[in-house]
Amino acid sequence: MARARVIYECQSCGFQSPKWLGRCPDCGQWNSLVEEAVTVDPGARGGEAGPAHAPSPIDAVTADTDRRLRSGIEEFDRVLGGGLVDGSAVLIGGDPGIGKSTLLLQAVAALSRDGSPCLYVSGEESEQQVKMRARRIALGASSLLVLSETSLERILEQVKAVKPAVLVVDSIQTVHTSAISSAPGSIGQVRECSSALISLAKKSGIGTFLVGHVTKDGAIAGPRVLEHMVDTVLYFEGERGHSFRILRAVKNRFGSTNEIGVFEMQEAGLREVPNPSQIFLSERPLDGSGSVVVPSMEGTRPILVEIQSLVTRSYLNLPRRTCIGVDTNRVALILAILEKRKGMNFYDKDVFINVAGGVSVSEPAVDLGIAAGVASSALDRPLDPHTVFVGELGLAGEIRTVTRAEARVAEAGKLGFRRCILPQGNCRQLPHVEQPELVGVVSLEECWEILF
Ligand code: TYD
Ligand code: MG
Repeated sequence: MARARVIYECQSCGFQSPKWLGRCPDCGQWNSLVEEAVTVDPGARGGEAGPAHAPSPIDAVTADTDRRLRSGIEEFDRVLGGGLVDGSAVLIGGDPGIGKSTLLLQAVAALSRDGSPCLYVSGEESEQQVKMRARRIALGASSLLVLSETSLERILEQVKAVKPAVLVVDSIQTVHTSAISSAPGSIGQVRECSSALISLAKKSGIGTFLVGHVTKDGAIAGPRVLEHMVDTVLYFEGERGHSFRILRAVKNRFGSTNEIGVFEMQEAGLREVPNPSQIFLSERPLDGSGSVVVPSMEGTRPILVEIQSLVTRSYLNLPRRTCIGVDTNRVALILAILEKRKGMNFYDKDVFINVAGGVSVSEPAVDLGIAAGVASSALDRPLDPHTVFVGELGLAGEIRTVTRAEARVAEAGKLGFRRCILPQGNCRQLPHVEQPELVGVVSLEECWEILF
């Protein structure tokens, strides 16, 4: 017999409690517990397991993950790990208005071009609005079906009737099921609806995209479990005021994480940017001090970015350290190393560091570049604009080897850079490289002799 009961559920982490609490004991959020009615049917639990299944030797298991649907949008396919795996569930998060709906509409239209039926379910826009968007981005896709619907039961019914190869649900927060009584968008609803959609995807081999809204601090709204339930989690990001958008994989069961795809939002939809380095460097001042180019790895691909530093006299008791696109702690460490090893003083200087183009770089391999840029600005001595810098900085002022040096050097060569200053250890591994000229260094000391 079904029995109704009330529980309180944290809207930020999914913690459940039989009584209301002001603060979630699990994630520490205040006022996040909301009353939800759950129907517990004692007979239903455990009924889904099905017949027991004996374990089999791993060699006898056939794995067919090579069946991937490719959209032909290279940047998109690469982030997915080479295309969409049948029956996989992909969650895409991003700020409102960043272009999630546009991206997915373009992607499913491309996927449907070879005749496989695709279904785009929008809970936020009417079919006419979707059509208007499709017209704006000039899509021609006859086997793309659109549906404006928010009820889970009706969506599932339509999916079973249409049997699409790819399903998009935009967004998961607007979908609700009548099985539970809480409001659409609440954690219980999101969890229930996604698990129904994901299990349908697995059972019938439908590649499923779920669009998820993000909260103020940037995480996908809804329970954390949502990220564990899906196979792939992608974030679509970009700076306001910049037209570049970066699609980033943060979890991928079928490919590499930290893979990125770069797009540009234009009047008629998103356009791929196959060579992001060129664009990120296009407006670089060639003779200004404090500007430095570093090859940073984004997933499997190197991207050249310009890091700009500005060191000015400070009028504050506590000088400013403002970093956009690089880690502030890392910069503090580099400044300390420069003070100690090179005798530079920053106690009366404000230091501003910005990565051009709204990109962010988080690898230690950009340390040497940051150090060179900061020193260049502090000394007001421009660096050679045709040189790139690679290397991790140790606390003793030593330059440490980095991963994937060959890929970084090759990217710099491709864009016409003439010289690359890199760790001696990496330099020795690359005797065959002719362009750019490689200069191996073991310490800041040695690097400074070359630069200043
Ligand atoms: P949208 O895909 O609706 O964002 P999301 O689904 O993530 O909320 O994108 C909306 C923004 O993109 C909107 O501000 C207008 C802009 N845009 C263009 O610049 N060009 C286009 O062709 C389209 C369709 C949208
Ligand atoms: Mg949208």
